[in-house]
Amino acid sequence: MEENRFDVSNRVVIITGAGQGLGREYALAFAREGATPVLAEINGDNLKSVAAEIEALGGRSLAVETDVGDPDSVNAMVDAAVTAYGRIDVLINNAAIFAALPQRPFFEIPFEEWNRVIHVNITGSYLCASAVTHPMKAAGQGRIINISSGTVPQGVPGFMHYVTSKSAIIGMTRVMARELSDDNINVNTVMPGYTTTEVKHASMNDNLHDFIQNKRLVKRAGTPDDLIGMAIFLASPAISFISGQTLAVCGGEVMI
Ligand SMILES: NC(=O)c1ccc[n+]([C@@H]2O[C@H](COP(=O)([O-])OP(=O)(O)OC[C@H]3O[C@@H](n4cnc5c(N)ncnc54)[C@H](O)[C@@H]3O)[C@@H](O)[C@H]2O)c1
Repeated sequence: MEENRFDVSNRVVIITGAGQGLGREYALAFAREGATPVLAEINGDNLKSVAAEIEALGGRSLAVETDVGDPDSVNAMVDAAVTAYGRIDVLINNAAIFAALPQRPFFEIPFEEWNRVIHVNITGSYLCASAVTHPMKAAGQGRIINISSGTVPQGVPGFMHYVTSKSAIIGMTRVMARELSDDNINVNTVMPGYTTTEVKHASMNDNLHDFIQNKRLVKRAGTPDDLIGMAIFLASPAISFISGQTLAVCGGEVMI
């Protein structure tokens, strides 16, 4: 039988921020595909609940309470995954400070909030990518999927720390992709548009929602299913010729 170029069933996939929202959706989707998600999440209760959902589906996962901003915590999570499964095939750098962020002018952002967003969203992604690089190099293959945001090309006001952090992800991806290309590790950025999840976003309201939808070529809300397809695609054998790229999933709201 011909190889299925989209098969991810044997993949070990670290998903950071897997306790809610899109991270939870990626975890459930990879589990449904027969893959093994490693759930790396700071919120212990949500972590347990997603692991239980995967078990109820008949899937398997490894749940490791992790702070992506803490190098010791990240290294312990990656070690636990390698000990359990012998390798890591995919990292989805999804964890971020996002849903709870209030909208405010940049000159009113409290210093602590600025630092936390920059640290978790940029340094957290860097630390996780650094930690998986060694086992991926040893295995001679790997995939890193970094998550940016459609707020970047639009310069959406009210979230300058968040938009700044998600801009950095694009540059980070390009450097990583170049530095890891000889090791057969593909690194790409996904740029989602606003996507509805089970989580209520601090700054979202009906007017803003309509405004966003009206800017799109595909005039509807983004759903987790729209992003799951891209995550599975980027984790699959099919993309061996795609690296260093930014792929926007936003109904054509931006063109990059
Ligand atoms: N939902 C959207 O509309 C949208 C649009 C563009 C980009 N994104 C990006 O997609 C990703 C997921 O978005 P979401 O809507 O699910 O966000 P969310 O805020 O609902 O979830 C983020 C998750 O990350 C976890 N997290 C936060 N800090 C952490 C840390 N230090 N260590 C480990 N985990 C931590 C949170 O506990 C939470 O489970 C984010 O990177 C976000 O920026 C989302």
